[in-house]
Amino acid sequence: MADATQTKGATARRVRKAVLPAAGLGTRFLPATKAQPKEMLTVVDKPQIQYVVEECVVSGIEHIIIVTGKGKNSIEDHFDYAPTLERFLEEKGKKEQAALVRRISDMVQVSYTRQKEPLGLGHAVLVAKDLVGDEPFAVLLGDVLIPGENPATKQLIDVYAATGVGAIAVEEVPKEKTHLYGIVDGEPAPQAPFGARLLRIRDLVEKPRPEKAPSNLAITGRYVLPPQIFDCLERTKPGAGNEIQLTDALRILAQQDGLWAYIYNGISYDAGDKLGFLKATVEIALQNKELGGDFREYLKSLKL
Ligand code: UTP
Repeated sequence: MADATQTKGATARRVRKAVLPAAGLGTRFLPATKAQPKEMLTVVDKPQIQYVVEECVVSGIEHIIIVTGKGKNSIEDHFDYAPTLERFLEEKGKKEQAALVRRISDMVQVSYTRQKEPLGLGHAVLVAKDLVGDEPFAVLLGDVLIPGENPATKQLIDVYAATGVGAIAVEEVPKEKTHLYGIVDGEPAPQAPFGARLLRIRDLVEKPRPEKAPSNLAITGRYVLPPQIFDCLERTKPGAGNEIQLTDALRILAQQDGLWAYIYNGISYDAGDKLGFLKATVEIALQNKELGGDFREYLKSLKL
């Protein structure tokens, strides 16, 4: 690692901004995504992207940059004020619902930028370059849900604050499934207070067959990165599917400035995938204060 121990000012390590790429076509979820963004598909009672925005807020992010594209306008509408709906609810005496609707827009400052063509996750992050500027930032995939009280993003921000080096969230996957993920080649670099959860990244391998995989630690969809990643993205040539892959730029960053893999505490759901979406729905419904009890009883009654 180039300089994991160097001391930078606390201000330079403050992570205030987050980029949420949400411009993909969502082909794994057709036909549902033909005319609506997958990030707006509802898990229990909220669109997926609201969970991701809430994770940012709980992690201390002050400014969210959502990268949208064609057909994604409903994302912007969801985080706008809705005066007609709010007035209607107020007039009907449904003050709590009116406040609930208003809270969605008041949570945090949101800016939007557009990716004119879905040229890959790396390209979507690069589109946000000017809005991020010269400071560290988080990246959260708009269709990956990581519920819980200590968000993965907050855990990565803590690593960045302590070390001044970028960090990506990883989690263990079954060895026979490595071909479905970006996999980390890392060496343990334990240090307080993170212990064995912290690994120094030697390399990243996109979707290796199990016998070729350097580990079973998969990239999860949460990152905290220094602004140098933009230079790495600009130097990244289109790869698989003619897309600019974030993983390729991360390999450059790891070699140039160092990069941590952090085995975060939590469980992720790839809600852009039909099975992942169903799992997220069931587990989040079971934890829901209002519905969880009845839903659990219902599931038991199915006698599967
Ligand atoms: P995915 O690979 O899950 O998105 O990217 P996708 O391409 O929409 O999905 P499928 O495979 O066709 O079903 C992860 C995140 O990156 C965004 C997506 O919107 C998603 O939130 N993304 C992906 C972009 O913003 N732009 C892109 O060009 C690609």
